[in-house]
Amino acid sequence: MLSKPLSEKALKQVLSSVSLPKLTKKDEKLFLTRLEQHFPELVSKLHDLYADKYDFFFHLEKLVTVLASAFASRKPSLKMRDEQRLLEPNWYRSEKMLGMALYVDLFAGNLKNLKKKIPYFKSLGINYVHLMPLYLSPEGDSDGGYAVSDYRRVDPRLGTEKDLLELAEAFSTEGISLVLDFVFNHTSNEHEWAQKALAGDPEYADYYYFFDDKKQVDEYNQTCREIFPAVRRGSFTYLESHNQWVWTTFNSFQWDLNFSNPTVFNAITDEMLYLANIGCEGLRLDALAFIWKEKWTLCESLPKAHTLIQAFNLCLRIVAPAVQFKSEAIVHPDEVAKYIDSKECQLSYNPLMMALMWESLATRETKLLTASLKKSFEIADDCAWVNYIRCHDDIGWTFDDDLAGQLGINGYDHRKFLNQYYTGRFEGSFAKGVPFQENPATGDCRVCGSLASLSGLEKAIDSGDTLEMDLAIKRILLLNSINLSIGGIPLIYQGDELGVLNDHSYLGDEFKRDDSRWVNRPEITPELVNVAKRATTPQGIINRQLRQMIAIRQSSPVFGEATTEVLETYRSHLFAYSREHENGDKFLSICNFSEQTQSVPASICDLLDADEIVDVLTGNKVGLGQDIVLGPYAVLWLKKKD
Ligand code: GLC
Ligand code: GLC
Repeated sequence: MLSKPLSEKALKQVLSSVSLPKLTKKDEKLFLTRLEQHFPELVSKLHDLYADKYDFFFHLEKLVTVLASAFASRKPSLKMRDEQRLLEPNWYRSEKMLGMALYVDLFAGNLKNLKKKIPYFKSLGINYVHLMPLYLSPEGDSDGGYAVSDYRRVDPRLGTEKDLLELAEAFSTEGISLVLDFVFNHTSNEHEWAQKALAGDPEYADYYYFFDDKKQVDEYNQTCREIFPAVRRGSFTYLESHNQWVWTTFNSFQWDLNFSNPTVFNAITDEMLYLANIGCEGLRLDALAFIWKEKWTLCESLPKAHTLIQAFNLCLRIVAPAVQFKSEAIVHPDEVAKYIDSKECQLSYNPLMMALMWESLATRETKLLTASLKKSFEIADDCAWVNYIRCHDDIGWTFDDDLAGQLGINGYDHRKFLNQYYTGRFEGSFAKGVPFQENPATGDCRVCGSLASLSGLEKAIDSGDTLEMDLAIKRILLLNSINLSIGGIPLIYQGDELGVLNDHSYLGDEFKRDDSRWVNRPEITPELVNVAKRATTPQGIINRQLRQMIAIRQSSPVFGEATTEVLETYRSHLFAYSREHENGDKFLSICNFSEQTQSVPASICDLLDADEIVDVLTGNKVGLGQDIVLGPYAVLWLKKKD
C-alpha cells in the first residue's frame, strides 16, 4: 500500500484538480470522509493494476469524479440505508434471510406483475430476491440476458426503468433485498462500446481484446479452459468483416472486456454504481473468475482478478456501502474461497456443497461431502455462503481431486459416473437430467435438470411408481434441509418450491435449443402453483414441508449468526453437522443419504449438552438410551427440549 503521507498527497492532488458535483454540506463531508478512509487502499490496488500507465493520475482523477457523481445521484433514502447497514454489517447472516432467484418474464411476465408477487414472497418467507439479468440484450440468443447491451436500460419486454425503480422501492418497503446481476466480464456485441469498436474507434477498440494474429489466439487457447465447447471451440470469435479475432470466453456475442485498460475500469465502475443506485443490496459478480488475462496462464482467478474486485469493492464502500458483492466463482473450492473476504466478496455461492449433495445422492455415500465441507465450509465471520441446490445453470462437478484421491476416488472417472448417473444413462438411476456442453476433446460434461427431475420425481411420475415417488420427495426435502440449516443464505431457485419438472419446450426454440440449461428454466404458470397447493400431490407435499422447514429456520438464531461444525459420523451413508450460537443455543442435523434404514449411536447427541432432545421437524422426542435410527433419506433436526 502507498504510505499514508503519499496517499494523502495523492488525494489532495486529485481533489485539487477535479470539480466535485454540487452536494449539501453534510453529504460533502460524508463523501470526503469515506474517500479519505478508503482512498489509500484504492490507490494502492489501482497502482498494482495500472502502475505502468503513463496517465495513471488522469484515470485516478476520472475515477474520483465517477464516484462523486454517483454519490451525488444516490437517493437520500438509499443513503439512509447505507448508514443503517453500516451499523448492522452482518445483516446477511440472520436466520431470517431466505433467497429466491428468478427470471422476471418466466416468473411473473414483467416487472409490474412481479411487484404483485410480493405477498407470495412474504408468505414463503423470501426476503432476498435475485432477478436474473433484465437489461437490454440482443434479440434471439442473449445467453438468458447475460449478454448486456446497455446496463442502464431495462429489456423492454420486461418493462421500463421506472418499473424497476418502483419495484426496488416496493421491495425495500417490504424488507426484501433486491439482488441484481453485475455482468462485467463481458458485454454483448451490440453494446455501444462494442459497436464503436467495430466502427473503428481506437478508444473503444481498447475496451475489448482484439487480435490480428492467429498465433496469439492459438497461444491463449492452449492454456484457457473452454466454457461452451459444444457451441464453439476455444475462447475467441473470428470477425470476418474485420479479419480479426475477439476474446469471447462464453458465446460469440459476449465480448470480454479488457480490464488491463484503466478506462474500462472507470467505465464499468460507473455502470456498477448506476446499478447500485437503483436500490439493490446485492450485486452478483457474474463470471468474476475470468476478468483478468495473462499469457500462458489459465486466465482464471489470477491474482489481479482479486485486486480488481477489491478495487470495485472499495468504490462501493465509498458510494453505496449498503451493497454487498456475491461471488459467482464456479471453480476449484480453494479458488472459490479466495474471493470470500469482506474486502472482496461478502457473499459467495457455495458450488462445492451444491455439487457434492448431488454426488452423495448418487453414490449414497457421504465421505466426499463430509471431508470436503470439513475442509472448505468455514469462511470469515463477516461473510456468508449463499447455499443452493439448483440454479439456472448446469451442475459442474467442482470438487477437489486431491482430496477425492485421498478417499480412493478418481476425480475424472467419478465425474464421468456422475454425468452418466444424472443424465439417466447409468442403469438404476432415479435422475432425469440432460447433458450440457460435452467436450469431445476432454470428455468433460456437465448436467442440467430441475431439482425435482434430478431427484427422481419425474421418473416416478412417469412410471406411476408410488414408492419411488415417496423416495423422490424425501430426497428433495433432504437437500432442502441442508440448504436451509447448515449456515448461510439459502437460495431457492424459482419453481423448486413447487416441485416443477424439466421443461423441454426450449427444443422448439431455435435460439435456445443448443443450450440445455433451458430445460431448467420453466415458466411458472398458475397451473404449477395450483398443483403445489393441493395437499396430496407430490408437489403439494414438497411445498408444505419446505414451508415448515423455513418457518423453523426463521424462528431460531441458531440458524443465523452461529458457527457450523461438519461432523464425522463414521457411518458411510450419514451426513451430520452441528451449529452453535453465542447465546448457547445448539443444533444438530443428521441426514441419511440412502434408501436403507441407518443408525448411529446416540452419543452423537452429546454435543447438544441436553438430557431431553427433540426433533424440531416432527416434534418427536429422541430416546437417548438406544441408537438413533434414520429411515430412508430421513432428516433429523435435533435441539434441546425447551
Ligand atoms: C455465468 C452465468 C451463466 C452465463 C455466464 C456468462 O456463469 O450464470 O448463465 O452463461 O456467466 O455470462
Ligand atoms: C461459469 C462456470 C461454468 C458455468 C458456466 C455457465 O462461469 O465457470 O462452470 O456453469 O459459466 O455454464
